[in-house]
Amino acid sequence: MNSILEGRDGLRTVVEQIAEVAGYLWQKGWAERNGGNITVNVTEYADEAIRQMPAISQPISIGCVLPQLKGCYFYCKGTGKRMRDLARRPMENGSIIRILDDCASYVIIADNPVMPTSELPSHLLLHNYLLESGSTYKACVHTHPIELVAMSHNNRFLNTEVLTKTLWSMIPETLAFAPLGMGVVPYAMPSSIELAEATLEQIKKYDVVLWEKHGALAVGTDVMDAFDQIDVLNKSANIYMCARNMGFEPDGMTDEAVTEIQQVFKLPTKRPC
Ligand code: 13P
Ligand code: ZN
Repeated sequence: MNSILEGRDGLRTVVEQIAEVAGYLWQKGWAERNGGNITVNVTEYADEAIRQMPAISQPISIGCVLPQLKGCYFYCKGTGKRMRDLARRPMENGSIIRILDDCASYVIIADNPVMPTSELPSHLLLHNYLLESGSTYKACVHTHPIELVAMSHNNRFLNTEVLTKTLWSMIPETLAFAPLGMGVVPYAMPSSIELAEATLEQIKKYDVVLWEKHGALAVGTDVMDAFDQIDVLNKSANIYMCARNMGFEPDGMTDEAVTEIQQVFKLPTKRPC
């Protein structure tokens, strides 16, 4: 069977990058069984032949109306599919979908009729917002990073300011590479519209959010950028945990040191579009 990737180097590169990140998620222990999901807006690669490709599924309802997504194309991890399998065979463990003109449903167009992730409402709500706000971000990654999820079991860290300050102050690089900090979404049923809407509110301010007792979700210019932001924040959570395991509460960098880095590196405090 022909793959949609054949003869399309740009699209192939994006899918290969998704597969690479899927492998990292598995290696890090953040992707047990089918845990986590990835979607990437690939509309820029939708040539005329792709636009003419017939649907290989019935129209499927998204559950909400997303006007910015009309005629857009997304690579989506398949629901129930494993990241470790996706790492080796991305087009068998994910699919490419086309959003229909009603902006409320989609069809699968390639390569196989693999049903997209159950977290599609959250992902698509964010992609809709990113387009609406003129952002160049294309990717959305959800995963189950162990130390961050562990922190979300303590009420103290379900406050965005306390969480962000704690994580930033563990190591300067986290501040530099996750300069917007980390939002918090109170526990909500996985894959629910409630979770999607609460996530959208946080993503208006942060690139990365913590889903209480569940995981993290990040948006980024591409899948590697989204992954990197979760990775640096989880590194801080790991350092915090190591210090606690050694029997002490880590001091953390001082407020002055944090402010100095923000100023010297001219770190953004709002997401650049
Ligand atoms: P999917 O297999 O449907 O992508 O779900 C995994 C997950 O992590 C849900 O939050
Ligand atoms: Zn999950």
